[in-house]
Amino acid sequence: MRPTVYIKDLKNYTGKEVTLKGWLYNKRSSGKIKFLILRDGTGYTQCVVVKGNVSEETFENADKITQESSFEITGTVKEEPRAVSGYEIDTKSLSIISLANEYPITPKEHGVEFLIDHRHLWIRSRRQVAILKIRHRIVKAIRDFFDERGFTLFDPPIITPNACEGTSTLFEMDYFDLGKAYLTQSGQLYGESGAMAFGKIYTFGPTFRAEKSKTRRHLTEFWMVEPEMAFYDLDDNMDLAEEFLEYIVQTVLKDRAEELKELQRDTSKLEKVKRPFPRISYDEAVEILKKKGVDFQWGNDLGGTDETLISEEFDKPVMVHRYPAEVKAFYMKRDPANPKLALAVDILAPEGYGEIIGGSQREDDLNLLLSRIKEHNLPQDFFEWYLDLRRYGSVPHSGFGLGLERTVSWICGLEHLREAIPFPRMIYRNTP
Ligand code: 4AD
Ligand code: MG
Repeated sequence: MRPTVYIKDLKNYTGKEVTLKGWLYNKRSSGKIKFLILRDGTGYTQCVVVKGNVSEETFENADKITQESSFEITGTVKEEPRAVSGYEIDTKSLSIISLANEYPITPKEHGVEFLIDHRHLWIRSRRQVAILKIRHRIVKAIRDFFDERGFTLFDPPIITPNACEGTSTLFEMDYFDLGKAYLTQSGQLYGESGAMAFGKIYTFGPTFRAEKSKTRRHLTEFWMVEPEMAFYDLDDNMDLAEEFLEYIVQTVLKDRAEELKELQRDTSKLEKVKRPFPRISYDEAVEILKKKGVDFQWGNDLGGTDETLISEEFDKPVMVHRYPAEVKAFYMKRDPANPKLALAVDILAPEGYGEIIGGSQREDDLNLLLSRIKEHNLPQDFFEWYLDLRRYGSVPHSGFGLGLERTVSWICGLEHLREAIPFPRMIYRNTP
């Protein structure tokens, strides 16, 4: 039987007859010759159909086939350095599986809203395929990194009874007779229980924020990976985050060069993402802002524009540590050298991509944690289980969260997070 092959494997079939299946990406005619670009998800290849060399039926099919019709084609694989895949198919027969209606996305320019309305079709385009293949590689790099370093994958619940990152961005729902429940903002608190059971864990899944911000950096549903490590202090945490980012970027450069080229990404900027990364304190970050003429009050959180101004100073991700405790979450440990500061770290990506990692050393003292919960007006009874982690063998521990879509967006050089996930969810959009 003739093998059905994928475009990526054509190099193994030079001179042989093969059958390929896929969709019509594009078509050109020149008299008695038709050039059909077939895509099958693994690549693109040109199929040449010459009148007289094929049956009348095959030539008619090649004539009437429309953009995005599905079809099956049989022919001989020829090396052709000028063609898209480096190979072309000298067609013997072509049958249409399903003739497509007039396809809404044409090679002409479309507005972004139109494209997002057609996201289910837009994902077929070369650029979107390249982005989502890079996303897949990043996900695998994340898993490999932790799996190879003795971390256990630990899946936290998505339905939770309380907030982790503050109450202002919770998606709320009625939960049977138990009152309100919420979609998780972060798996961290559960991750901490895992770290006390396994030593080192990572959670990896969707998280939800009812963000009112309509920026290009915010989604309401996004993926986050959160490692949590027993016996790690803030410095250990920063060392791990640094190694992690270098690993992700260098892996994508190595394994997804073709896709980065498709996106016309300036890879020289990514090549520079090698350890060590600059580490500056919040105080030093404020100095940078002041030098750049920003009227910045010590004690405020860094905004998106501030982050961009700081990261402009560096050509690698920059780690900003020791923020005012006031602007950070209740669970962060205070700096013993200055209790006004939290042992927090945010990592800002270069080229204006903003915060991609947020992390900290956690408060491991029962009484201090209790008073933080009270100061933040959080319901203590919902946190009893979390306080147990400080009652039964508490240890210093740390962790961080990396936003997947922000990472994809940075590595791919995207304008907006909406292209970094198959079906983006934003404050003003929940379709398709
Ligand atoms: O800084 P965040 O809020 O930190 C946490 O959730 C901690 N519990 C993490 C931890 O220590 N385990 O979020 C972490 C990262 C951000 O740096 C950003 O990359 C991403 O999650 N992120 C978002 N990505 C897309 N859309 C949003 N609305 C995001 N909010 C946060
Ligand atoms: Mg943050």
